[in-house]
Amino acid sequence: MGIYNYNKENILKAGEILKNGGLVAFPTETVYGLGGDVFNPTAIAKIFEVKKRPFFDPLITHIADMDMLLKLTYINDYKILKLIETFWPGPLTLVLPKKDIVPSIITSGLDTMAIRMPDNNIAIELIKNSSGAIAAPSANPFGYLSPTTAMHVYEQLGEEVDMIIEGGSCRVGVESTVIDMTKKIPIILRPGGLSKEEIEKVIGVVESFDRTTSSPTAPGQLPSHYSPRKPLHILYEGINNNIDFSNSAYLSFKESGLQYGFKKVEILSEKGNMLEAAANLFSCLHKLDKEEVDNIYVEKIDEIGIGKAIMDRLYKASKK
Ligand code: TXA
Ligand code: MG
Repeated sequence: MGIYNYNKENILKAGEILKNGGLVAFPTETVYGLGGDVFNPTAIAKIFEVKKRPFFDPLITHIADMDMLLKLTYINDYKILKLIETFWPGPLTLVLPKKDIVPSIITSGLDTMAIRMPDNNIAIELIKNSSGAIAAPSANPFGYLSPTTAMHVYEQLGEEVDMIIEGGSCRVGVESTVIDMTKKIPIILRPGGLSKEEIEKVIGVVESFDRTTSSPTAPGQLPSHYSPRKPLHILYEGINNNIDFSNSAYLSFKESGLQYGFKKVEILSEKGNMLEAAANLFSCLHKLDKEEVDNIYVEKIDEIGIGKAIMDRLYKASKK
């Protein structure tokens, strides 16, 4: 139990815990994952139980090599290989037809599965010392802010995880982009660390799920998610006089004069760099959630590049 430093001995130990059906929280480049052995349905059930996650919400499987990809899924489109060659390891999750070897609890009974190769040495070493495939949702209670440090995991799930591996702050800071490759035109189900623009440069036009017009088809698309405990409001029309400044916190994308009235302020990136803002997003929200304020306000940004994933998280966090 508790947080363990990253070293060879602890990775071996973590691998044993996984092989014996236990749960290990580990860093990835996006957010910390709560890992269990893909081939052990009881371990997977434990993930759902610890997170209080509904069983209809399928998990992402993490792998470290192509052999495992071929063991678990069917590759039936050249575009899939192009994406893998360009973006793996990295923040891109592919939804692919699954093989029978994959337990249905991972996929909530679907005949497709979500799979990715994380760009983080600790994660890769852990996978290599496990059965070779780790299912891992973000290591937080269902619906709450995602963890981007080992301490976030400890604060939220504490002793319910057999081991938490220390890996510093996550480089990307928002979850992977999930793209369904089983459709004629691939469709982005969840915007994330890799932008639609970057994907289209490699495989041409893809569709994306539009949160404002579509009804959810995958549970990651539920309107409310990634939420702090305090109410979060997006300032679509900018800062206005209806805000009780003395009692509110402000999440700002860059250093500016606008924030001075607020009781508490977090700045996502002093220079307004959106990649840096994404990396700091959940950390800053965790901080503001602990402050003595009644409301958190955040400005709106353009949904370009990673801005799309940032606004997706903020929009869902603002829904209760
Ligand atoms: O960055 C990430 O992706 C993190 C880190 C830990 O790798 N993981 C993560 O996992 O966010 P999770 O389980 O919270 O996200 C799973 C997402 C959900 O939106 C789920 O609906 C979707 O993937 N998903 C999983 N399997 C699917 C499938 N077969 N078809 C469609 N969507 C699927
Ligand atoms: Mg999550």
